[in-house]
Amino acid sequence: MTNSILEINNLSVIANTTEKVLVSDVSFKIEQNEIIALVGESGSGKTMTSAAIMDLLPQGTQKTKGTILISGVDTNNWSAEKKRSARNTLTSIVMQNPMSAFDPVLTIFYHFWETIVSHNAGETKKTVREKSETALVRVGFPNPSVILDLYPFQMSGGMLQRVMLAIALLSSPPLIIADEATTDLDLVSQKKILELLREHCTRNNSSLLLITHDLGVAATLANKIILMKNGKIATVQQVKEFFTSPQSDYAKQLMSCHHALYTDRYNKIMEIIRSDKNELN
Ligand SMILES: Nc1ncnc2c1ncn2[C@@H]1O[C@H](COP(=O)(O)OP(=O)(O)OP(=O)(O)O)[C@@H](O)[C@H]1O
Ligand SMILES: [Mg+2]
Repeated sequence: MTNSILEINNLSVIANTTEKVLVSDVSFKIEQNEIIALVGESGSGKTMTSAAIMDLLPQGTQKTKGTILISGVDTNNWSAEKKRSARNTLTSIVMQNPMSAFDPVLTIFYHFWETIVSHNAGETKKTVREKSETALVRVGFPNPSVILDLYPFQMSGGMLQRVMLAIALLSSPPLIIADEATTDLDLVSQKKILELLREHCTRNNSSLLLITHDLGVAATLANKIILMKNGKIATVQQVKEFFTSPQSDYAKQLMSCHHALYTDRYNKIMEIIRSDKNELN
């Protein structure tokens, strides 16, 4: 029997003060090499679900129910320290709001330093600089040494997103979570970064949980789509079936809105789905 990379059973998250249910009874699995697109309207609970997986729920919210198994092991019984270390070795996350992921008083170099040294305490400043520069070139910075000496506030949202991705791909964790990882990027950079993510996952046998509003991105990259609404899962379908015969009323509604609002893009997506191509221009 093979263990899933990640298995979530009946996850629920609430806001402490209002007791509003933010995530309700969410269950799904991610297998090795699988790319899952988590889609759904704004506020539907995508970020909260990924934060719960990473044990990074914001203050004022809490998990009330559910189990999260990483490589078959139930993390509920783990100490905070063990969860933190598992988080570092088993998963990488690219977060939705890039500015909040960086410490404003530290240069980009020190953000690389913390991650690289946490994996190998024997690294020196010189080796960390070399590795960081290589990683920055991969995400499209032609001048990596300049970038390393900048503070987060000296960079745009799109630059910070790419830095976050470079840091996330330093190691080869079994699971990468990318929460709207390319929203601040222009279309050409977005395409390159998504290609990079896909290549990285294929090369390292990693799985990807890709959170996105962009159905084109989901159609191009994912094997499976999970659609959320009001904190619940509305639909789980293989990508081809999702686009050709959506299961739930909400998925049908979403597709017809997409058709009406973005006809050209919708047609392009359907062309990709029908032809089994995996490139969106
Ligand atoms: N820190 C917080 N405290 C309390 N409620 C929160 C907090 N952050 C988010 N929420 C609420 O949790 C619900 C789910 O939010 P979440 O951020 O997961 O949505 P999302 O699907 O990621 O949306 P988007 O596509 O806009 O990023 C929303 O109702 C939101 O208002
Ligand atoms: Mg979100």
